[in-house]
Amino acid sequence: MSFNPIGLNNKKFLITGAASGLGKSISILLSQLGAELILVDVNENGLDDTIKLCKTNSKKLVLDLTNTENIRPKIEEIILEFGKIDGLVHSAGISYLSPLKFVDKEITTNVFLLNTYAAIELSKIFTDRNMSTKEGSIVFISSIYGCVGSVANVGYAMSKSALHGITKSLAIELAPKKIRVNCVAPGFIETEMFKSMANNFGPDYYQNITNLHPLGLGKAEDVAGVIAFLLSNMSKWITGSIINVDGGYTAQ
Ligand code: NAI
Repeated sequence: MSFNPIGLNNKKFLITGAASGLGKSISILLSQLGAELILVDVNENGLDDTIKLCKTNSKKLVLDLTNTENIRPKIEEIILEFGKIDGLVHSAGISYLSPLKFVDKEITTNVFLLNTYAAIELSKIFTDRNMSTKEGSIVFISSIYGCVGSVANVGYAMSKSALHGITKSLAIELAPKKIRVNCVAPGFIETEMFKSMANNFGPDYYQNITNLHPLGLGKAEDVAGVIAFLLSNMSKWITGSIINVDGGYTAQ
């Protein structure tokens, strides 16, 4: 048998945002590496599509992660049925572009609840030993805009830079429990989120954004590979790291 250092046979993971984009690509790759998955998203049809493409046993959970009260009971219920998980990836997220003077409290709160607060609720569940195995890995997905600024982006940047603080704090708090916590900060990836932004802002937008990435725009699988590494034993000495996966965007 050939040696696969990031093989994930007999591992179980929970992936949010699994109906589309990065979450979908991550789910497919993890299943190809042998992992069984709980796929969480608000979009049921998208989840069904992802499940069809997964190679191993996957269960879906249709859940609106902005509905904070529902997260714990729904996720605990499915984990009890599925078995303890070895890690989780929080990929569900929404973007919010608005010039400062139009920044809206309600929209900002909603962005925060999904992009940021859901990560805290999911981590709480993961630290319960009835829910997770002895050694675990939590991975959040932030953005280059958690690291660098851009115009009309305070709401989204707030939600993603907060994830960086959460990653570092939880890495320290959870190290004694042998739970690692890391965050991947992607540059622009050609997913539905990016396509809808490109449609709104016209043809120059696509080219301008591409030019900001020395290696060009990313593909979802460029991020998925790094996530698989962070969930695997190959990264067992990495915690509290923010890993930029951005084609060189933030190197400039
Ligand atoms: P996407 O729009 O393709 O996928 C996001 C998923 O989140 C969708 O399946 C959607 O149904 C789900 N979702 C939205 N609201 C939800 C809710 N209330 N409850 C549960 N699920 C919900 O987006 P993409 O591109 O895959 O983004 C994934 C993550 O990566 C996000 O956190 C995003 O901020 C981040 N990111 C994306 C970049 C890109 O260029 N696409 C760049 C940097 C970061």
